Amino acid sequence: MPSTIAFLELNPENKDEKRSEQFSSEGEEFKMWGAPFSAKAKKMLLLGSGELGKEVIIEAQRLGVECIAVDRYELAPAMQVAHRSHCLDMQDAEALKALIREEKPDIIVPEIEAIATGALEELEQEGFHVVPTARAARLTMDREGIRRLAAEKLQLPTAAYRFADHFEQLRSAVQELGTPCVVKPLMSSSGKGQSVCRTLEDAESCWNTALEGARAKTTRVIVEAFVPFESEITLLTVRSESGTTFCPPIGHIQKDGDYVESWQPHGMTDKQLSEAQDIARTITDELGGYGLFGVELFLTADSVIFSEVSPRPHDTGMVTMITQDLSEFALHVRAILGFPVPSVTLLTPGASATLKAEVATRDFAISGLHDALLLPRTQVRVFGKPETKPGRRMAVALSAAEDVETARKTAKEAANMLKVEVNHV
Ligand SMILES: Nc1ncnc2c1ncn2[C@@H]1O[C@H](COP(=O)(O)OP(=O)(O)O)[C@@H](O)[C@H]1O
Ligand SMILES: [Mg+2]
Repeated sequence: MPSTIAFLELNPENKDEKRSEQFSSEGEEFKMWGAPFSAKAKKMLLLGSGELGKEVIIEAQRLGVECIAVDRYELAPAMQVAHRSHCLDMQDAEALKALIREEKPDIIVPEIEAIATGALEELEQEGFHVVPTARAARLTMDREGIRRLAAEKLQLPTAAYRFADHFEQLRSAVQELGTPCVVKPLMSSSGKGQSVCRTLEDAESCWNTALEGARAKTTRVIVEAFVPFESEITLLTVRSESGTTFCPPIGHIQKDGDYVESWQPHGMTDKQLSEAQDIARTITDELGGYGLFGVELFLTADSVIFSEVSPRPHDTGMVTMITQDLSEFALHVRAILGFPVPSVTLLTPGASATLKAEVATRDFAISGLHDALLLPRTQVRVFGKPETKPGRRMAVALSAAEDVETARKTAKEAANMLKVEVNHV
């Protein structure tokens, strides 16, 4: 038996020592564990418990990991498949640190951006293992951090950009960059607070939209030149013990800044693919750690442009649940636990299409599953969210086919059959 485990048995109090050794070591003794709830369990704590986290937990459960789900509301999707869960404001640094010190997880997996990342950095200093690293979580939650890193330090191609702290600065930025341009709060996701500024006169409404949609109390925004892309992709990139592995590119369509449809593989020239992989490798090497990253890129006629990166599974990557031998969730779990990823195989072309709610209610039912499941090679994932909100993603349809066009058509057909039925009494 490896000495560390024997040591732990003799010194159950000395959990801190185990943590710091584990973080610096990739030794075999850390890749074995006992049953969930036992003293030798491997404990994974997930920060954010949405539909992506739900799949991460299902994959971790398959490897016998003890799973703890955290989110700010009860019955979040990942909580429903975890061993236990906690309700917490993850932007509250003190509450977050208290919970983690109490739970003492072996591995902390951020599933969303809105987390007190300063607390994660502190916890990492104490020896906790944050996936892929606390710095990656901090840099990628903030558009300024990741943009300056990509464009200024790493010299990756991005849209021209400016930052603005108040309205007059925003106006100057729009004048300098020209219209159209895109205004975004520094911290937001799923298109919240984002708008396209088509003329200088739009600047004021864009400023107000950004202030309303921002997650943090700061008024700082980023203004980006509008990229007239032909298509946009997510390049799922896995950093693991085996090195860097790329999944075939995923094409997607965003509506109001949120994804509605994705497919894999996306047709690209060899040159585009190799440029995309170079960019993805550069940014993920810089962020470091093990795990799966979603690298978002714009493709124009003659260039590949970096947009942003998530150090975790990506919503557009849900399609991999039907296309790949290892889904993006299985890949993430393997990589973060320190296991090899010798290869990823695309088994079939496929597509995903989302079901979104239109109103806010807790009194609803999702209909249409029977008809959707009659479609060829089609599956549905219902997330189990307890409450709808306008624009909230509630389910996704996944279809495989001989070619991407057929898969897209079928997945959209399936998604259109699904309905959020609201009880209007
Ligand atoms: N500079 C830009 N030019 C053109 N389209 C953009 C630009 N920035 C964002 N978009 C569109 O808005 C979507 C969401 O923007 P993104 O920066 O990825 O925000 P989020 O963090 O909310 O995903 C993109 O996938 C793209 O379709
Ligand atoms: Mg994005």
